[in-house]
Order: sequence, then C-alpha cells, then structure tokens
Amino acid sequence: MTNIEKDVEEVLFDEKALEEILDRLADEIIRDYKDSPRKLLILSILKGSITFTADLMRRIPLPLELDFMKVSSYGSGTESAGPLKISLDLNRDDISDLDILVVEDIVDSGKTLSKLKKHLTERGAHSVKICTLLDKPSRREVELSADYCGAEVPDKFVIGYGLDYDEKYRNLPYVGVLSPKVYM
Ligand code: IMP
Ligand code: MG
Repeated sequence: MTNIEKDVEEVLFDEKALEEILDRLADEIIRDYKDSPRKLLILSILKGSITFTADLMRRIPLPLELDFMKVSSYGSGTESAGPLKISLDLNRDDISDLDILVVEDIVDSGKTLSKLKKHLTERGAHSVKICTLLDKPSRREVELSADYCGAEVPDKFVIGYGLDYDEKYRNLPYVGVLSPKVYM
C-alpha cells in the first residue's frame, strides 16, 4: 500500500489552522446558545463531519446531545446530483423542544442542506442552524447560507479531516486539495 499523501496537491488547512477555526466556531456557538432554555442537539451528518464534530463538541461546555443523520446527493464522483436521500434518519418522535445545530463538512451546491433544513423544520424542530467546516460559495445552486462557517474554499475538490473522495482520504489530519490526476 502506498502513502495517501502522494495524492494531495496542496495543503489548505493544517492541524494548527484547523484548531484556530474550531476555537472561533466554538466561541460563536457558545455565545449564541448559552442562554437558551431548550435542549441543544448537535446533529452530525455522516460520514464526512465526524472528525469535525468530535473536535468541535469537545470545545462546547454546554449541556448538549449528539445524534447522526446520513443524507446525500452525492455518488462516488465529484459532482452533486439527484434528490436528497436519507439513509439514516433522526430517530426521535418529538423534536419541538430542540435547538438543532446541523454539523456538516462542506457546503457545495447547498442542495443537501437546504433540503435537510426543510425536512427538520417540517418535523417541528424549534430551531435549525447550520455549522459547516468549509464552504464553496462559488458552487451554490440554491440559496443557503451557513450560520457558522469555518472557512471558504475555492472550487477545487478537497479531502481529509473527514472529507472523502470515493470513501478514501478521510483519515488525513489536514484539509488538502485532491490531485486532479486521481479522478481525470
Ligand atoms: P451539496 O448538496 O452539493 O452542498 O453537497 C454537499 C456534500 O457534497 C458534502 O456534504 C460532501 O459530502 C460532498 N462534497 C462537496 N464538495 C466536496 C469536496 O470538495 N470534497 C469532498 N466532498 C465534497
Ligand atoms: Mg462525502
């Protein structure tokens, strides 16, 4: 087996840069939720946001609960397509007492999260906000802005720190640009 780092064209956010992003996001989240009388639910979107979620939640010393959903509009390629597919739903009956903070790895077209936000709002969540590690605003196809955003990235395919290409590279400890030779 070869080292996966050979497929990284450029490192965008190393471990130190990620820590600074995490500290800032946690401060913003604590500031906004610390006085809320409701339950805070961190809703981590599988699989890409697990690393981000694990690091972010340990910086938020508020009472919170953790749940997961698996939603996608992505196949194994680099382009988004098709409707929202829920392969793991939120297994709770009444969500009306919840402030839901959706934690996502990256917003690209925005389709996945705008559909998910609608789904959770229709199910009766008291509030639904979005925290994304990365944002590719140049690729947006629907109107959607994250409430908390770690950093903007250019229109390049990024991998690492949970983000995959064809299920690989999630274990890189930094965020980097995938070398186009991998998918050309
Ligand atoms: P959207 O519905 O187009 O916003 O798709 C968002 C999802 O596409 C993210 O949760 C990622 O799983 C995936 N995605 C979009 N861009 C990238 C990328 O550059 N690297 C890895 N995954 C990506
Ligand atoms: Mg993905």
